[in-house]
Amino acid sequence: MNYTLEDKFILAKKAYDNAYTPYSKFNVGAVLILNDGRTISGSNIENASFGLTNCAERSALFSAYSQGIRKDDILEIIILANPTTGIISPCGACRQVISELMNGDATVTMFNLNKETRVCSVKDLIPFAFTSGDLHE
Ligand code: THU
Repeated sequence: MNYTLEDKFILAKKAYDNAYTPYSKFNVGAVLILNDGRTISGSNIENASFGLTNCAERSALFSAYSQGIRKDDILEIIILANPTTGIISPCGACRQVISELMNGDATVTMFNLNKETRVCSVKDLIPFAFTSGDLHE
């Protein structure tokens, strides 16, 4: 299945609407597109103990991996938020997780609520990433 930009926006908007953000009121939705056409959604989930918040991107990726999905199954991550200006881009922690759980040539599509879009690859998002290859045996 080929998803148009409009399809991607609608999917991401559902995830955005499901965010649990009583503290920041800053919703973020993320959707993974898999190579078999399935999609997996994630939203940011906050907590009164603020540091326990889980970003939308990690919610989506952890959900996918929990279902047995692995990096070769994931073509793209779509991210939607409504920053005061411009288009959101994932936080540093999410970039690190994305770099381990998705392939470098997978696509990152970023939207704001005005449907402005930025597209890049995972390796463009986090050059010089720390990886498992850096660890001693
Ligand atoms: N947030 C995300 O979900 N993804 C990002 O890439 C940046 C930040 C969330 C965390 C928190 O719930 C809210 O946005 C404000 O930081």
